[in-house]
Amino acid sequence: MGAERTTMGKAFQLIPDSASTFAQAIDANYYYIWAITIFFTIGIVAAVAYFSVKYRRKHKDEVGHPIHGSLMLEITWSVIPLLIAMSVFVFGTAAFFSAYDPPTGAMEIYVVGKQWMWKIQHPEGNREINELHVPVGQPVRLTMTTEDVLHSFFVPAFRIKKDVVPGLYTTLWFQATKVGDYHLFCAEYCGNQHSGMIGKVHVMEAADYEAWLSGTTRGETMEASGQRQFEKLGCSTCHLQDNTGRGPSLKNVFGKPVQLQSGTTVTADEAYVRESILQPQAKIVKTYTNVQMPTFQGQVSEDGVLQLISYVKSLSEAPAPVAAPAAPAAAKGGKK
Ligand code: CUA
Repeated sequence: MGAERTTMGKAFQLIPDSASTFAQAIDANYYYIWAITIFFTIGIVAAVAYFSVKYRRKHKDEVGHPIHGSLMLEITWSVIPLLIAMSVFVFGTAAFFSAYDPPTGAMEIYVVGKQWMWKIQHPEGNREINELHVPVGQPVRLTMTTEDVLHSFFVPAFRIKKDVVPGLYTTLWFQATKVGDYHLFCAEYCGNQHSGMIGKVHVMEAADYEAWLSGTTRGETMEASGQRQFEKLGCSTCHLQDNTGRGPSLKNVFGKPVQLQSGTTVTADEAYVRESILQPQAKIVKTYTNVQMPTFQGQVSEDGVLQLISYVKSLSEAPAPVAAPAAPAAAKGGKK
């Protein structure tokens, strides 16, 4: 492995390593705010010092002259700070959107927080605790939740941080740019061993990552575990794939819109599938009103729910829905 200099093992470092595609934009924002702060701190202190000398009281009986305002001055000191504040907002928002909008086709990894550890599952079947192995130069999307309290997944070298929330999936993505080992922290106080809820992110060359994936730690794939539970929990007795069962078929459902009894439509994403397993009555599929699917709350762990979702995903042919604007172009190409 081409091990490079990383933050691991260093006593003190003001700025963490830059090891993801976000690092540059986030740091640029940070330095920009720093520069503005330093500029105005020096400017204001200097002005206070200068004016306090220049306009000091020179005689005991001296009286100040009243000033009756200046429109130009007031406009200037309102407009300039407004432009500066808006520039911080625009640059910050641009960086925020790029960090919270995962590209389609990113590699999927699943994270479950727990007092006090990070449990990671790779779709290929590898599971790890407090360690995350990823390939360099490839977008990775994390789908995260927690089985107890709020935690926060934080990798300073990637400049990413996001809360993991009970009962909810949050997502985060990154593309590592440098091989090495980086700190993984929990950044939300979560109990008396919060400070020990730390780990390592191992960024590896693609070939090394493949070798690691097919290593001895590999178990059954998430999809296979999901299918096993699907049968064990009896889901397969109602959700028949030919749509003749008591529940709707789950074939080609994931990522597609689902018509509900309430007249609304939802997209069958991770959150919807999770809710349908744990609170089946929350969103009832159209024409399935009379079926009372039992809840699986308490019978399946968060890891298990993610495996079931992985299985449901595998029942859909297209891995990711095609973006709307691309569809007409593809149709035109097909006609030629
Ligand atoms: Cu988990 Cu702090």
